[in-house]
Amino acid sequence: MRPLVVLGVTGSIGRQTLEVARHLGLRVDAVAAGGPSTALQGILSELGEVDVALAGGDEGELREVASVARGAVEVGGEAVSALAGRPDRVVVNGIVGAAGLGATLAALEAGNRLALANKESMVAAGPLVNEALARGGGELIPVDSEHSALHQCLSGEDRADVSRLILTASGGPFRGRTRQELENVSAGEALAHPTWDMGGRITVDSATLMNKGLEVIEAHHLFGVGFDSIEVVVHPQSIVHSAIEFLDGALKAHVGHPDMRVPIQYALTYPRRGPNPAARFSLAGNRLDFEEVDRATFPALDVAYAAGRTGGSAPAALNAADEVAVEGFMRGELAFLSIAEVVAATVERVGSGSVSDLAGILAADAEARRVARELVSTARTPA
Ligand SMILES: NC(=O)c1ccc[n+]([C@@H]2O[C@H](COP(=O)([O-])OP(=O)(O)OC[C@H]3O[C@@H](n4cnc5c(N)ncnc54)[C@H](OP(=O)(O)O)[C@@H]3O)[C@@H](O)[C@H]2O)c1
Repeated sequence: MRPLVVLGVTGSIGRQTLEVARHLGLRVDAVAAGGPSTALQGILSELGEVDVALAGGDEGELREVASVARGAVEVGGEAVSALAGRPDRVVVNGIVGAAGLGATLAALEAGNRLALANKESMVAAGPLVNEALARGGGELIPVDSEHSALHQCLSGEDRADVSRLILTASGGPFRGRTRQELENVSAGEALAHPTWDMGGRITVDSATLMNKGLEVIEAHHLFGVGFDSIEVVVHPQSIVHSAIEFLDGALKAHVGHPDMRVPIQYALTYPRRGPNPAARFSLAGNRLDFEEVDRATFPALDVAYAAGRTGGSAPAALNAADEVAVEGFMRGELAFLSIAEVVAATVERVGSGSVSDLAGILAADAEARRVARELVSTARTPA
C-alpha cells in the first residue's frame, strides 16, 4: 500500500490511525498537527523518519519538535496542505474544523486516496470537494462511522433502488432531558459521551446534535442524496452505525462495535478487508433501541438541515459559527442551549450567497466567525 500521511496526528482520529497503521504494518511518511505539544513529541519519538507540518508554533517549541523529528519540520497551513498533496499517498484527514479544508482539496487535486474524517471540509465546501475529486481522479473514502457504514451499505447496490439514507445518532449524554434540565449543564457534562471517545468539539456537537446535522450535510454531498431522503434516528447503543432503505421497503444496516479503528481501517484497505483491529462483535447479549429525535430540545439538527437546504455559503457559515459557539461554551462563556441559538442567528445574519471557489468559502467562514463572536460576547452566560 502507498505510504500514509496522517493529518491531525495528535487527535483522537490521528492516534487511532497510527494504531491501525501499526496493526496493518503500513508506513507513515508524514504527519501534521495544529502546533508543537508533548503529545506530538511522544508520537514522533516512536515513529521512524517522518516529515512534519504544523499549523503554528513559536520558535522555541518548534526547535524542540525538530530535535525529536527525524524528518523535515515545516510550519503554516500551506505546509500542512503540501503534505496532503504529495503524490501517491493515502491521506487521512483527522484535522478538526474548517482548518482541514485546504488539506482535503490538496489531497484530492493530487489524485490521492483521501480517508476523510474532517467532515467540516464536506460541510463547508461539498461542491468544491467533489470537483477536486473529479479533477484529480483519486478516491474519497469517508471515515465518519455513519458515512463509512453508508458507503458499505451502498456498495454493489443500484442507487436508483435506494429510497432513504438513515443516519443513527447516539443522542449524546443529554438524551431524554428537557430543555429546562439543560439550562445550566457544564462543558464537563457535555464532554462525557456515552458511547464514543472523541475530541472536544465533536463531543459537544454530539450533545447538541449539531454533529448529526453536519453529518446530514456531509452525506448529502458524499452520496448525492437530497435532504428529504436523509433521516436521523436516535439509537443509544451506537451499534447500528447507519442504514439504507430500498424502494421495496427492505433495510440494510451496518452493525458493529462503536470503535473508530474499524472505519479508519476500512478507508485504508478498501475495497479489501484487513484483520479486525478491534474486539470481535457478538450479536448475542446486545440490544438495539431506536427512537425519534427530540427536535424541540435539540434544535441544532434542524438548524443544520435548513443551512444544508439553503446551500451556497450557508453551510460554511453554519460550521464556522458552531466552532466559535462550541469554543465559547467550553470556556464557560456561553450556555449550552445558546450554542444552537448563536449558530442559527449567525447563519441568518450572514445570509447565503453562491460560492464557486475557495475564496468565497473562506470569506463566508470569516464573516460567520466575526458575527458569532459578537453574539457569544452578548449572549447569556451559564449560571
Ligand atoms: N474522534 C472521532 O471518533 C471522530 C469520529 C468521526 C469523525 N471525526 C472527525 O474527525 C476530525 C478530528 O476529530 P478528533 O475527535 O480526532 O479531534 P481532536 O481529538 O480534537 O484532534 C484534532 C487534531 O487536529 C489537529 N489540528 C487542529 N488544528 C489544526 C490545523 N490548523 N492544522 C493541522 N492540524 C490541526 C490537532 O492538533 P493539536 O493537537 O496540535 O491541536 C489534533 O491533532 C473532526 O472533523 C471530527 O468531526 C472524529
